[in-house]
Amino acid sequence: MRFDLISIFPDFFASFFEYGILKRARAAGLVEIATHDLRAFTNDRHRTVDDRPFGGGEGMVLKLKPIYDAVASLNITHKRERDPLRESVILLSAQGHPFTQKVAHELAGLDRVVLICGRYEGVDERVNELLCDRELSIGDYVLSGGELGAAVIVDAVVRLLPGALGHPDSSRFESFGVQDTDEIELPGDPPRTTHGAGGILDYPHYTRPADFEGHVVPDVLQGGNHDAIRLWRRETALRKTLENRPDLLEKAELSKQDQKILERLQYELGENRKE
Ligand SMILES: C[S@@+](CC[C@H](N)C(=O)[O-])C[C@H]1O[C@@H](n2cnc3c(N)ncnc32)[C@H](O)[C@@H]1O
Repeated sequence: MRFDLISIFPDFFASFFEYGILKRARAAGLVEIATHDLRAFTNDRHRTVDDRPFGGGEGMVLKLKPIYDAVASLNITHKRERDPLRESVILLSAQGHPFTQKVAHELAGLDRVVLICGRYEGVDERVNELLCDRELSIGDYVLSGGELGAAVIVDAVVRLLPGALGHPDSSRFESFGVQDTDEIELPGDPPRTTHGAGGILDYPHYTRPADFEGHVVPDVLQGGNHDAIRLWRRETALRKTLENRPDLLEKAELSKQDQKILERLQYELGENRKE
């Protein structure tokens, strides 16, 4: 897979891709990441990439032509003929569709992704119309530029590439994971190290020491009862989701047992609020 990142600050990414999973994935040849300086695609003495907005108003807007030329230099298929299952040109934008784990999975199946980083008030809308397949936002807040968003997308996608993580289960069974654990874990089997989420959040993790100044790890995790551990993990994952992201429960794959646990947790939460 190959990423091309277009930015007026290409050096921003220099250290970002030099750590951990991203570094290993690049070294193993799973992904190639190239950065491109937008100013290299200007023709004037001042290397101008921005201009005042039509209609007036605050700030400056990134011009179409340098971005158009930068994308043309990448030898990517023209928008009209582009195969959406192989290539995608994406504009980072606060006005975009939300970037989610589902979108990360979609992008991880492509051969090439071009990420265009905006700055100032944004980019000329014709960048979107002529060049881009989609606009993505990394959250409901406004950043100064698209670089952090591009870095977030690269990170989330690369860790999904086959071979990027030490264990393939790590990206299948984590927060927002779509895998239903019931189909792969049998009662009495040891729980997997990272345990299925089915669209909800991950459960809490602990490691040694078991007792830190009186703050102890739950007993159940220190015993060897695999089914009890599995149940505890599912219950705490449901509790975290109920408390922090109840919206996820609407679309989550929930078993009858999950629903029973949820009813009890909802009742307990209601009782606690009354106190
Ligand atoms: C200051 S922002 C422009 C904000 C724009 N005027 C608006 O109100 O939506 C400059 C650039 O940062 C990037 N950006 C800002 N917020 C973002 C977000 N939540 N997700 C992705 N990119 C974002 C985009 O590339 C955008 O063109």
